[in-house]
Amino acid sequence: MPNKEWVQMAIDAREHAYVPYSNFRVGAALVAKDGTIFKGCNIENASYGLSNCAERTAFFKAVSEGKTEFLHLIVSGDTKEPISPCGACRQVMSEFCDPNMPVTLVAGDGHYVTTTVEALLPYSFSEEK
Ligand code: THU
Repeated sequence: MPNKEWVQMAIDAREHAYVPYSNFRVGAALVAKDGTIFKGCNIENASYGLSNCAERTAFFKAVSEGKTEFLHLIVSGDTKEPISPCGACRQVMSEFCDPNMPVTLVAGDGHYVTTTVEALLPYSFSEEK
């Protein structure tokens, strides 16, 4: 179960979303095993394909600061149902997280579901398999 503060951090992370093209703000809070929390937002580009999702922003911030072990990821979007991460972000989660790591997906009204990395990306690619 996510801590309330982590859910609020994922909601707050939407504030800095750079979304001139979609106008759809997404926020993420990634909790590292040492307790550091990395916030991320989506960052779009005039060349649409270069846009970076909130989840990957959070992962890349963390990894670039030397954190590669995580406890929980929380993602928030202004959606009716809990937001569903894109395939690219699911693959990045599977790179850095244990299959059973919890991922909490938050809807616009604040209700959420908690699932796992493996449930989001079953039978994922890795060089070990
Ligand atoms: N987006 C995210 O940041 N995370 C998701 O889980 C879904 C989609 C972004 C990408 C793009 O900036 C905007 O939402 C619309 O697709």
